[in-house]
Order: sequence, then C-alpha cells, then structure tokens
Amino acid sequence: MGGRRNWVGVGGAWAVIVERMRESVPGPVMGDAFGGVLRACHEVGARTGAVFQIIERDDGHIAASDAAVYFAPVEDWPELERHACEEITGRVLDVGCGAGRHASVLIAAGAGVIGLDSSPGAVAVAQARGVDARLGSASAIPVGIDAMDTVVLFGNGIGLLGSPQQAPVVLAELARVAAPGARLLGSGLDPSVTTNPIHLAYHDHNRQRGRMPGQLRLRVRHERLASEWFDYLLPSEAELTDLVRNSPWRLDEMRHDDHGGYLAVMHLR
Ligand SMILES: C[S@@+](CC[C@H](N)C(=O)[O-])C[C@H]1O[C@@H](n2cnc3c(N)ncnc32)[C@H](O)[C@@H]1O
Repeated sequence: MGGRRNWVGVGGAWAVIVERMRESVPGPVMGDAFGGVLRACHEVGARTGAVFQIIERDDGHIAASDAAVYFAPVEDWPELERHACEEITGRVLDVGCGAGRHASVLIAAGAGVIGLDSSPGAVAVAQARGVDARLGSASAIPVGIDAMDTVVLFGNGIGLLGSPQQAPVVLAELARVAAPGARLLGSGLDPSVTTNPIHLAYHDHNRQRGRMPGQLRLRVRHERLASEWFDYLLPSEAELTDLVRNSPWRLDEMRHDDHGGYLAVMHLR
C-alpha cells in the first residue's frame, strides 16, 4: 500500500512539472531533469544511443553520456561494484538508487532492499522495475527506514557527500538508519587522475575559491528541464579519510581500479 501511495504521489508531481512547462515562457524550466532522463530512457526500453544525460558544470563545461548506463546489466558494471554486490548481506539501503540497477540485482539475489532517491522520476522508474524505492534525501532520510545492515552508495555515490559541510550531515544520517555493525560501501572517483586541462583548471579554480578541488557544482539538463544546481564531490582517498575521521563510520578499506575509481568500505563504529 505504501509503495502504491508513493507511485501516485510521484505521478502527480510529474503532472505538475508538465503543466508548468506548458504554461511557461521560453527558457529552461526548473524541475526533475534527471528523473526526466530516466523516464525517457525507460520508455525506450533502456536502448543504448537513444537518450543522453546532459550535465552542465558551473565553469560552462557540458558533458553528455548515454543514459542506458543507469540500466546496465551487472556484467557491464565496474568490477569493484560487481564484487562488492556479491559480498552484501542483510537488509540493504541503496542511497541514490536511480533506476534501481543495483537494487534489482540485489533483490534477485535474495536481499531485502530499500532504494532511496531525491528524484521523483528516478523513484517512479525504480518502482516500475520492482524496487521498493522511496522518495527522500540522504541528508533527511524519511521515516520507515531503519536498522539497515548495509548501506550502498554506488555509481560514484560517494559524490552525494557533496561538500565538507554536507558530508558530516549525510554520514550521520546514514548512521542513524544503520544497524549495529553495519557496513557502508561507496564507489567514488579520485579527481587527481585526470590529465584534461579543462578539468585541471576547474580544480585550481575551486582551490582558489576555497572549495575542494573535486567539489563539482553541477546541474542536469533534459529537454527543457534544468535541475537546481548541486554539489557533487569527487574526493581523493586522503580527502575522504579526513571527511570520515570524525563521523560515526570507520573507513576500513579502499579498493582501487586502474582509472582512479575506488570502493570505500566503512563500518559503523
Ligand atoms: C550518479 S546517479 C547514480 C544512480 C545509481 N546509483 C546508479 O549507479 O545507477 C546519482 C543518483 O543520486 C540521486 N541523488 C542526488 N542527490 C541525492 C540526495 N541528496 N539524496 C538521495 N539521492 C540523491 C540522483 O537523483 C541520482 O539518481
């Protein structure tokens, strides 16, 4: 029943966005652009090459990527996440679950999974794909979620730590809904591996304005929709260690790939 109510609520929110688009004057319409991307991709059967996610950074850099990656089967995932999923036990909270690609594989393997996402469109698509997905933020987790044995932040979900100000709030909130001895598994990207001069200049610009080098200020675009600007964090291992040090989590292990990607393994203290 709770899932059905969520679904109706999410559908209502989408109708409001469409109505606002009809009424508005030219220019981007503020709304759930990432949800729009996932809905469009879901509608075409998650075919590759059909729907693209456009990400705009506050230095003007634009990146487009195939949205089908958010529906990718397990064999196409980064090896670190594939192996991590094989180790997962107990009740799982998939934070920033998106279209539910990790959640659906974990459910098929017998895990009890709750997905959490701040995008109504993502929640709607994940629910349509059989995931118990709930609408909410990692920094204010809704009631009804507690005693989770494993918390996952996959698909570079460490980025949801956002900033030095937001990270302690998110880490404390995830701890609040975790069971004693819980594990947190998060994938991330070390920004220092890039050799792209545009990204290196952006990291310098961030340092000069008192931000972490990999503290990206982004918004998502889809057709006429633009999301609000948000911070998405790419911390190095040393920076992540600092962010976690005084949190309820203990960073026990960092597993690395050859491209700057990593999987952070934490335990609730
Ligand atoms: C890069 S996508 C990854 C999606 C999914 N984990 C995957 O790998 O396919 C990040 C997801 O986090 C969600 N998100 C962003 N900020 C969030 C927040 N504060 N709380 C919960 N979810 C959030 C976005 O809507 C999006 O679905």
